[in-house]
This record gives sequence, structure tokens and C-alpha cells, in this order.
Amino acid sequence: MKIVFTLLFVLVNLFGAKVVEVEEKYQTSDKCKACHMHIVKEWEESWHSKSHYKNDEYFRATTDYVSRKTRRSLSSIKVECATCHNPRISVTSTGIDYEIMAAMKLDKGSKVNKALASSAIGEGINCVVCHNVDKIHADRDATVRGINRVSWTDSGVMSGPFNDAKSPYHQTKYRDFMDNNSEQLCFVCHANDRSESGHVFIDMQSEYKKSDKSCVDCHMGPKRESFAASLPIDNGKVKKRDVRTHGFVGAHTSSMWKGVLNLSLKQSGSDIDITIANPQPHNIPSGFGSRELIVELIYMKETKNIATKNISLTRHFLSKREKPTVPHLAVKSSKDMSIPAQGEKTIKVPNEKGATSVEVKLYYRLVNDEVRSILKLKDAIWTNKSFITSQKLKLK
Ligand code: HEC
Ligand code: HEC
Ligand code: HEC
Ligand code: HEC
Ligand code: HEC
Repeated sequence: MKIVFTLLFVLVNLFGAKVVEVEEKYQTSDKCKACHMHIVKEWEESWHSKSHYKNDEYFRATTDYVSRKTRRSLSSIKVECATCHNPRISVTSTGIDYEIMAAMKLDKGSKVNKALASSAIGEGINCVVCHNVDKIHADRDATVRGINRVSWTDSGVMSGPFNDAKSPYHQTKYRDFMDNNSEQLCFVCHANDRSESGHVFIDMQSEYKKSDKSCVDCHMGPKRESFAASLPIDNGKVKKRDVRTHGFVGAHTSSMWKGVLNLSLKQSGSDIDITIANPQPHNIPSGFGSRELIVELIYMKETKNIATKNISLTRHFLSKREKPTVPHLAVKSSKDMSIPAQGEKTIKVPNEKGATSVEVKLYYRLVNDEVRSILKLKDAIWTNKSFITSQKLKLK
């Protein structure tokens, strides 16, 4: 235990995030609307804008659950998760002194509570999270993420993809991680997600197979001619620029799942071989633990449905007591059932007697049954299945 404490202490000292306070005129996205309305609107639809306690039921339920199970204050857990979910928070860690104060209900008006209530963090991953990154410390240990992996620009300096941008409202700074090296920016948070006891349940950086497309090509769309600011800065006209969309669409948008994976079927003796191929550069599912692929088999005898089977491809997480738990409390997990980046997986399923054909349908779900019931998630998006693809096979 002592070693762990010493190590933590050293890490905090070496990589402790330096907080840079953001002036009110830049803090929230409404301050950007006058000139970047179109971008603010796109971002508002994204899950980056929902990535916090108030707006994401799954995140909120997990935070509450981790607090209850570890018997630590909810505020401490919130500060911990803020590392990636609310990186402009002004307090970056809490100590045992805060825990004691919180337990005795003496934490009202404390620095921690003020930081958590601040409007500066009420928007999750907002404009001044990404556009105030000055440096990314990619050389730091792989466990050091979010807030601890970056240095911030001074308040009012926006880092961006253009080296000739001028704005009357703020200063600008070209950064290559906003341009041709943007994967580094995404990996600040989308990598090395780990439980309280250090069990890494997702690491998009190590599974990633670099291809000709980078994260922004797929999740912000291709570059297209439009404008960055609606202010007429180009001889009285709006300046034309090649830009992308700030939608960061992904797993939560059901329609995005169509055709993401490929299916092929083969009869081999009394089995059906189902091969699922993933052309994407990261695993599917990925991003977070307890995501799920569902393989549905519908066996037909001529035109009559004679049987249906559902197979869940997901990962289960076990607590210290070997009980099913959420990813953030896991000490170990079952086999990774995701389809590897640019790879494939084959599963064998027994045939059904008398069947003359089988239809296989593939779906994605954000949360598997186990974790959804542990957290009692209510919103329909956690139960809904997103259709990916289907195939039919005649049986001999
Ligand atoms: C400061 C941390 C951080 C950075 C930097 C970051 N993300 Fe995210 N991202 C998150 C968090 C947290 C979520 C989860 C939001 C939620 O589901 O509540 C997320 C969610 C997403 C999603 C899922 C959306 C969905 O609908 O399922 C995509 C896609 C995504 N980010 C892409 C990117 C890309 C591309 C980059 C780099 C340009 C990037 N992110 C940079 C933290 C970050
Ligand atoms: C998750 C990180 C992230 C967040 C959050 C984010 N941006 Fe961006 N932004 C980027 C990246 C990456 C680019 C560069 C895209 C490219 O051209 O390759 C960019 C580009 C821009 C540009 C240049 C024009 C363009 O579209 O390429 C402007 C202006 C901008 N962002 C404003 C904003 C505003 C305003 C917000 C908040 C509403 C915001 N951004 C939120 C990552 C982010
Ligand atoms: C009064 C208008 C105005 C407001 C308000 C404004 N900007 Fe800008 N911004 C501009 C102009 C003009 C440019 C330059 C556009 C160009 O060169 O095409 C710009 C450029 C940018 C860029 C690209 C910088 C680069 O070097 O590539 C980013 C990022 C950005 N703004 C973010 C923000 C954010 C975040 C906010 C809100 C906190 C904001 N802006 C508020 C006018 C504004
Ligand atoms: C060739 C396109 C492509 C590239 C490049 C790519 N992705 Fe994806 N990503 C997808 C597809 C397709 C999905 C499935 C959902 C969807 O269609 O948006 C997905 C899903 C995701 C999800 C949600 C996963 C889940 O199951 O919760 C995240 C987070 C994500 N990507 C982040 C990233 C990051 C970060 C990078 C860069 C390191 C990246 N992606 C690069 C195509 C891509
Ligand atoms: C290393 C950075 C990092 C830290 C620290 C972190 N997260 Fe996340 N978290 C992410 C990213 C990135 C995503 C988005 C993945 C995706 O959408 O596929 C995410 C997504 C999630 C989701 C899924 C949300 C959804 O809508 O599907 C939950 C739940 C979650 N985090 C809970 C937590 C909790 C609770 C903590 C603190 C105990 C925490 N996270 C700390 C990076 C982090």
C-alpha cells in the first residue's frame, strides 16, 4: 500500500495538471455563437456535449454506483472522472482530508464543491477543452490521460488548424494536432480507460491500426468548402475555408451502424460458421466497456420460422468478490469478444434440425443486459438495438 501511495504521489507531482482558469468570455459555447453558430449547433448534437453528470444517464449512474461501492464521496469520484469528462475543472484531485470533511458534511463551500458547481464545466467536452490545448505530452506514461496529458494555452488563445487565422475576439495559434496529427488529440482521452484498481478495460490507442483515414475523417466527416467564422473578414466577405463537421457522430447514433461490419456464412457439417469482419481501424465495439454485438439466428423450414437464437458478444467485468460489476470497478474481465481492428472473428453455431435456411442478423447495443440491470438504466437508447447487417444461407 505504501508503495502505491508513494507512486501516486510521484505521478501527481510529475504530471499534476496545471489549471489555467478560463475567463468568462470564453468559458461556454454561447460565447462563440456570434461568429461560429453553425459549429456550436453541430457540437450541441454531439455526445461530447453530453459527456457529463447532468446529461448522460449511463455516466451518472456509473458515477453514483462507483461512489456507493467504494464508499467514497460522490464529489471525489466526479473529480476523478473529470480528468477526461470535464477537463476544465479547477480542482484536479481530492485527498483524504476532503473525504473526512465530506463524511462529516463539512464540505459545503469547499474548493472541490465550488469547482464541481462551476458553469465552466457544465458543458462537458466543449470548445475550450479541445481548442485550448497547447501541448500534448504524448511521451508521458500511457496511464496519464485527459487533463494530465495536456498543457493549456493562456485564456483567450484558441489553437486551431489554420496558420493564418485572425479573429477580433481571441488570439489564434496553429497546432498540428488540430490538423494532420489529430489522432494525438483524440488519444488524450480515448485511450487507456481503467478501473479504480487499474484494470485497463479499453485502450483504443493500442488496438488502433493506422490507415489512410484518421479519426476526424470518419467522426467529423471529410473536409468540405465552407467557412470557419461567419464574420465578414475577407474584404467585407466571409472567408472561405475547408472545414469539417463538429458532430463527432459515433455509437449513440443508431443509423450510423448500417454496414459497419461484414458478415459471411458457411455450413460446416452440423454447424454454421459465422464470420464477422471489421474493416474499421479500431475494434468494434470499442470506446467503452460492456458494449455489445448481438447475433440473431432465424432458422426457417421452407417459409416457416422454426427457431430463433440470440448470441451476445460482449465482455463481462468481475469485482474483487468475483461478482458481476461495471467496468470502472473491475479487477478482471472475461475474454474480449470485440472484432479486432481490420480483422475478423468466426463463431460456430449448431444447426437446427429440419431447417432449410437460416438468416443471421447482426446488431449493436450500447450496454449489455448485465450492466444495464446493475445500474437500472431507464432511457430507451440503452436497450435499443442498432441494425448492422444481415445474411441468408441455404442449408443442405
Ligand atoms: C478531453 C477528452 C476527449 C477528447 C480530447 C476527445 N474526446 Fe471524444 N469523447 C470523450 C468522452 C468523455 C466521450 C463520451 C461521451 C458520452 O458518451 O457521454 C467521448 C465520445 C466520443 C465519441 C462517441 C460518440 C457517440 O455518439 O458514441 C466519438 C466518436 C468521439 N468521442 C470522437 C472523438 C474524436 C474523433 C476526437 C479527436 C478529434 C475526440 N473524440 C477527442 C472525451 C474526449
Ligand atoms: C473534441 C475536440 C473538439 C471540440 C470539443 C471542438 N472542436 Fe473545433 N475542431 C476540432 C478539430 C480536430 C478541428 C480541425 C478539423 C479539421 O479541419 O481537420 C476543429 C476545427 C475548428 C475550427 C476551424 C474550422 C473547422 O471547422 O475546421 C473552428 C472555428 C472550431 N473548431 C471551433 C469550435 C467551437 C466553437 C467549438 C465548440 C462549440 C469546438 N470547435 C469544439 C476539435 C474540437
Ligand atoms: C466576434 C467573432 C468571434 C467570436 C465571438 C469567436 N470567434 Fe473564433 N474566430 C473568429 C474569426 C474571424 C476567426 C478566423 C476565421 C478564419 O480565418 O477563417 C476565428 C477562428 C477560430 C478558430 C480557428 C483558429 C485557427 O488558428 O485555426 C477557433 C478554434 C476558434 N475561432 C474558436 C472560438 C471559440 C472556442 C470561441 C468561443 C469561446 C470563439 N472562437 C469566438 C471570430 C470569432
Ligand atoms: C475508417 C473510419 C474510422 C476511423 C478512421 C475511426 N473510426 Fe471510430 N468508428 C468508426 C465506425 C464505423 C464506428 C461505429 C459507429 C459509427 O458508425 O459511427 C466507430 C465507432 C467509434 C466509437 C464508439 C465505439 C463504441 O462502441 O462505443 C468511438 C469512441 C470512436 N469510434 C473513436 C474513434 C477514434 C478516437 C478514432 C481515431 C483514433 C477513430 N474512431 C477512427 C469508424 C472509424
Ligand atoms: C482516460 C479518460 C477517461 C476517464 C478518466 C474516464 N472516462 Fe469515461 N469515457 C471516456 C471516453 C473517451 C468515453 C467515450 C467512449 C465511447 O463513447 O465509446 C467514455 C465513456 C464513458 C461512459 C459511457 C457513456 C455512454 O453514454 O455510453 C461511461 C458510463 C463512463 N465513461 C463512465 C466514467 C466514470 C464513472 C469515470 C470515473 C470513475 C470515467 N468514465 C472516467 C474516457 C474516460
